[in-house]
Amino acid sequence: MKLIILKDYKDVGTKAAELVSKDIIKNKNLVLGLATGETMIPFYRSLVSLINNKKVDASEIKTFNLDEYVVFDKKNKNGYYYFMNKHLFSKIRIPAENINFLNGNVKNLDLECRNYENSIKKNGGIDLQILGIGRDGHIGFNEPGSSSKSRTREVLLSRITRKDNSRFFDGKISKVPKKALTVGIGTIMKSKKIILLASGVSKAKIVHRFLHGSIDKNIPASFLKKHRNITVILDKEAASELD
Ligand code: GLP
Repeated sequence: MKLIILKDYKDVGTKAAELVSKDIIKNKNLVLGLATGETMIPFYRSLVSLINNKKVDASEIKTFNLDEYVVFDKKNKNGYYYFMNKHLFSKIRIPAENINFLNGNVKNLDLECRNYENSIKKNGGIDLQILGIGRDGHIGFNEPGSSSKSRTREVLLSRITRKDNSRFFDGKISKVPKKALTVGIGTIMKSKKIILLASGVSKAKIVHRFLHGSIDKNIPASFLKKHRNITVILDKEAASELD
């Protein structure tokens, strides 16, 4: 595992965008796994700037986002598609058919998840997966207790995740959906390369447990320590409890 510690969350985003751009330059058809959350905002800002300043051409990459709430679809303002469209897709030139997203508003959620998993496979798997981390150690929406072999599926969200994400729902936990669809840990582990970003003092405890603790089902991110090509980028605050 490669660990990079930078000054603040903007620098984390800039560094991640540089690394992603390098991989897109090497492979214009890169299959890129994307994440949402506040940590990702400076990353998308930097990536958009690199793309729009013609430092990198992302018009032929394929993207697969990690997760979406049940029963949200593309139009829901609190949904992850809306977030991605606002911060990335609407700002760059990328064909709509290159963007893959889980739809949490279909009758057959199992089928939706199976199709998504198959689509990832058909595209040769994820080349580069970007991840954030939740305060309870979740990745995507793989909450504590998730199996290391889990695939794309419907999950129940933990109270801590719903509380943290309530900031996007007028601060009301009751408005945060109880269920979501997420790409599984097994699927994430099959990515050829992973970059995990964490910033802010609220992540310091979990970052410490993730990096210094043992591999533990109760900290889903800890499974990533078995991955052969993972880079963790932290800001000073998120790294503040490391020895
Ligand atoms: C959500 C997402 C995760 C993300 C996490 C952390 O729960 N499903 O993929 O890593 O939030 O988000 P933030 O960066 O806002 O702390």
